[in-house]
Amino acid sequence: MTDSQRSLLFNVREEIKLIFEGEGSGHDWWHIYRVTETAISLAKKENANLFLVELSALLHDLGDHKLFKEENAQEVLIANLLNKYSCSQELISEVLDVVKGVSYKGAKTITNPISLEGKIVQDADRLDAIGAIGIARAFAFGGHHNRLLYSPEEKAELHENFESYKNSKGHTINHFYEKLLLLKDRMQTNTGKELAKERHQYMESFLSQFDKEWNGVIN
Ligand code: ADP
Ligand code: NI
Repeated sequence: MTDSQRSLLFNVREEIKLIFEGEGSGHDWWHIYRVTETAISLAKKENANLFLVELSALLHDLGDHKLFKEENAQEVLIANLLNKYSCSQELISEVLDVVKGVSYKGAKTITNPISLEGKIVQDADRLDAIGAIGIARAFAFGGHHNRLLYSPEEKAELHENFESYKNSKGHTINHFYEKLLLLKDRMQTNTGKELAKERHQYMESFLSQFDKEWNGVIN
């Protein structure tokens, strides 16, 4: 990596920290930090472009539809930030290609990034949505949006498209069936698949314990 690449990464990291510091719905700076660290580890294992992976991971939630409501927020905010540091248009479009493919869009909408770097950032983001941290984030999101922990009357729905997924307002346990338990089989890299297995099992055992406690089962 060159000195100017290193210095860009440092500056972008500082800017992103300030933007996401206080975010309370599970997309705070530490989410970006974890995704970036995981993405770097995956990139080393998978021999990917480390600079592009780190930069894209840092920027992956900037302009995301859940947090920023303006049209084309992702393109605009990422391009503005990178232009501030005189990045080439080529680099800006490479980063946009990676981050556009990252977000989950519902059970029946498959988004498969094409580049290795895109696959890595998507895997890293999804790994942070499962396992112990994934469970914590799901309930933090639910609390932030006034959702119930669980309601036995409301069944999970495998959303046909992004619109219906985006507008769903179900309880948080449903989110496991609508997204979190589906992620293991949607990992793109071999390293991601391996890491997902343990985190998946942890969620399965959490859900069976939750069920037991919900129904007052004693044994
Ligand atoms: P992505 O990063 O793929 O776009 P999201 O931004 O939708 O994923 O999700 C970010 C975090 O918020 C994840 O941990 C996710 O599980 C959680 N989350 C998103 N939607 C819900 C929901 N309806 N209920 C509970 N948690 C949610
Ligand atoms: Ni994310």
